[in-house]
Amino acid sequence: MTSTLHLVDDLDRSVLVSPIGMLVSWAEEPADALVIEDGRVAWLGSSARPPAADVRIDASGRCVLPGFVDCHTHLVFGGDRADEFEARLAGRPYAAGGIRATVAATRAADDTTLRTGAERLAQEAVRSGTTTLEIKSGYGLTVEDERRLLEIASTITPHTTFLGAHVPEGDADAYTDLVAGLMLEACAPHATGIDAFCEKGAFDADQCRRVLSAGQAKGLAVHVHANQLGPGPGVQLAAELGAASADHCTYLTDDDVAALRDAGVTAVLVPAAEFSTRSPYAPARRLLDAGVSVALASDCNPGTSYTTSMPFVIALACRELGMTPLEAVRAATLGGAAALRQPDVGHLRVGAQGNLVVLDAPSPTHLSYRPGVDLVERVLLGGRGAL
Ligand code: NIG
Ligand code: FE
Repeated sequence: MTSTLHLVDDLDRSVLVSPIGMLVSWAEEPADALVIEDGRVAWLGSSARPPAADVRIDASGRCVLPGFVDCHTHLVFGGDRADEFEARLAGRPYAAGGIRATVAATRAADDTTLRTGAERLAQEAVRSGTTTLEIKSGYGLTVEDERRLLEIASTITPHTTFLGAHVPEGDADAYTDLVAGLMLEACAPHATGIDAFCEKGAFDADQCRRVLSAGQAKGLAVHVHANQLGPGPGVQLAAELGAASADHCTYLTDDDVAALRDAGVTAVLVPAAEFSTRSPYAPARRLLDAGVSVALASDCNPGTSYTTSMPFVIALACRELGMTPLEAVRAATLGGAAALRQPDVGHLRVGAQGNLVVLDAPSPTHLSYRPGVDLVERVLLGGRGAL
């Protein structure tokens, strides 16, 4: 994540964080101190014998975590859908068709409006501890609009995903040809991944396969919006294609779970979407117990999940998905890194990007134990203060 972040201090020299009350680094050896130099973790060890550094941050009594990796968002859009949310509160179910309202508002918005809105949400994400962010297109659905959404997303993050196959415009087969052809041609230079919404009312397995294989042939990482609103073929398709991730995974058969595990596909769970749409929660325990790689993400978008808060997602994962606090933090850090195939984020081993969160709390359990409370005291991004 980049350029648009307002760095509030100039910690661009070597930074020693020591002592640390509880450090979650995902390294083998326990440690209670670390040094970030030239933007990366350079040393991890005991606060009794710290190396020299230019600046020291005292984190005694505090928990230090890798910055959250939010591997699934739709941050570039126009308008909002508060009225649709209110209708849901009154009992109307969520349907994929609501996406079209945001498509209309997005097409009507100029670049500056879209960029400003996405930057505001990215800043909000950083304030709650997110240091790596993926952004999808999907609210343009024309060659030119999808391309401009990805161009805007690229100014905010290096992780951009082409989601032209969000909902069909007109005849679904003809639209699929457009997405897999001219639209992909225009969008691929601005994207690192490709995604498709495999669901009744969106695209079937054959249509998704056409789009995703075409993107894969161009070197894009494959993601699938899979099994969100009902059982379906999305997860099996993700496994067949060797996708980086299958996202949502709300309705899974035992065969789906086994396919994810056997193909090494990360299941990206988005409980804030289930919260907002009043849907059943994804079967996280079945996935974890089967040995599937699991990630947590915000799915921030104006329809199903208008939040950027990974602490909120973690709290839901513990309360509603049956994950332990450490499983949830692991999924929100290392899991997201796996889904983005970005091995130097989501942990604080030597060589990792110097992205970390200092909590005003003694352990990660407090993220779910104290829901709705802002516990993020400090965020370092490449060793520089972002909050
Ligand atoms: O991830 N499922 C498809 N896409 C979004 C919802 C988009 C919308 O409703 O605007 C999701 O939930
Ligand atoms: Fe999504």
